[in-house]
Amino acid sequence: MVMELILALSKGRIFEDTMPLLEAAGIKVLENPETSRKLILPTSDPGIRVLIVRASDVPTYVQHGAADFGVAGKDVLLEHGGEGLYQPVDLHIAKCRMSVATRAGFDYETAVRQGARLRVATKFTSIAREHFGKKGVHVDLIKLYGSMELAPLVGLSDAIVDVVSTGSTLRANNLVEVEEIMDISSRLVVNQAALKMKRARLQPIIEAFERASLAKA
Ligand code: ATP
Ligand code: PRP
Ligand code: MG
Repeated sequence: MVMELILALSKGRIFEDTMPLLEAAGIKVLENPETSRKLILPTSDPGIRVLIVRASDVPTYVQHGAADFGVAGKDVLLEHGGEGLYQPVDLHIAKCRMSVATRAGFDYETAVRQGARLRVATKFTSIAREHFGKKGVHVDLIKLYGSMELAPLVGLSDAIVDVVSTGSTLRANNLVEVEEIMDISSRLVVNQAALKMKRARLQPIIEAFERASLAKA
């Protein structure tokens, strides 16, 4: 019996950084998601297809078994909760950090020390709630879906929680990183039932990903 494998990926950095790992497992994706409008892409292995989904939807597809495995950022996995997902490998790709940032003139340390109530805009409400909760800082969380850097500039919030890599987006918007929350990288996630039922097919791919990603650790 041929067991098909479905891999969920998002366009952009995760797709690009996963390609060398797939190639290390002997698999080539035959269409480019940046130019194709197709959402199911064939690979050089007729038994493996790739779904193109939003980055934050990867855990949902894998959790429900619509995809057998996928690649998702630690940020996305923490927000999702990780239910039904086996996370065997840190792939060391799409590396960045989750940080708190404010306008350059905002005295974050003093505000925190004085117990001020902070308005925090973020896409990452679970991570932010956990972080400020642990510190004992009272926050009003404002849920956004993108362009977080704008919020402090127009008075929507005092601070943001967002991913930072080079820092150039913060600099371009006159914001400063005032606290690092955690390092972020992307993980391989596998549907727990698929891991049992399709282990013979999945295991060699997981091992090839692990070997190829160790080089980036
Ligand atoms: P969408 O575009 O659907 O809102 P997204 O912005 O989260 O989703 P990507 O920008 O492709 O999608 O981010 C995918 C993952 O890559 C994130 O979950 C995060 O872990 C990581 N990431 C995000 N921004 C950066 C960055 N500037 N540098 C490195 N890694 C990043
Ligand atoms: C991400 C993130 C930050 C930026 C940080 O945006 O949301 O805005 O990267 O990276 P930097 O520190 O190197 O500037 P992305 O490039 O994913 O664009 P997006 O707004 O479409 O998600
Ligand atoms: Mg992004």
